[in-house]
Amino acid sequence: MKRYLMMLTAVALVSGMAWAQDGAVLYKSKCAMCHGPAGEGKVGPSLQKTTLDQKQITDYLTKGEAGKKAPHSKAVAGLTAAQAGEVATYVGTLKK
Ligand code: HEC
Repeated sequence: MKRYLMMLTAVALVSGMAWAQDGAVLYKSKCAMCHGPAGEGKVGPSLQKTTLDQKQITDYLTKGEAGKKAPHSKAVAGLTAAQAGEVATYVGTLKK
């Protein structure tokens, strides 16, 4: 029983670390080419200055917004809702 608990703790720790990293990895592979590696802006606007909060960014990525420029008039392709939440949290860390 003790060993089982220790294993559970270890798994929880490792997946917690993976969670924190995922947002950054997703950002680099799916967003950085348009928003810059530090969110400083390129083709897309700077995310360091965005006024959207984590929830609004998650919605923006999972639903898109009519009338916005590509790719954001639609949901970002290949991003699950959970991943959108992670990358939105990461965007929050880029804010200046
Ligand atoms: C093909 C280029 C491109 C990619 C890839 C891209 N974006 Fe964008 N993004 C844009 C453009 C262009 C806009 C401006 C849209 C508009 O206002 O019409 C924008 C706007 C945004 C905004 C709104 C900023 C604000 O303050 O209004 C957020 C947040 C955002 N992008 C996050 C992301 C995230 C996170 C990813 C990765 C999952 C991503 N974008 C991928 C081009 C891109």
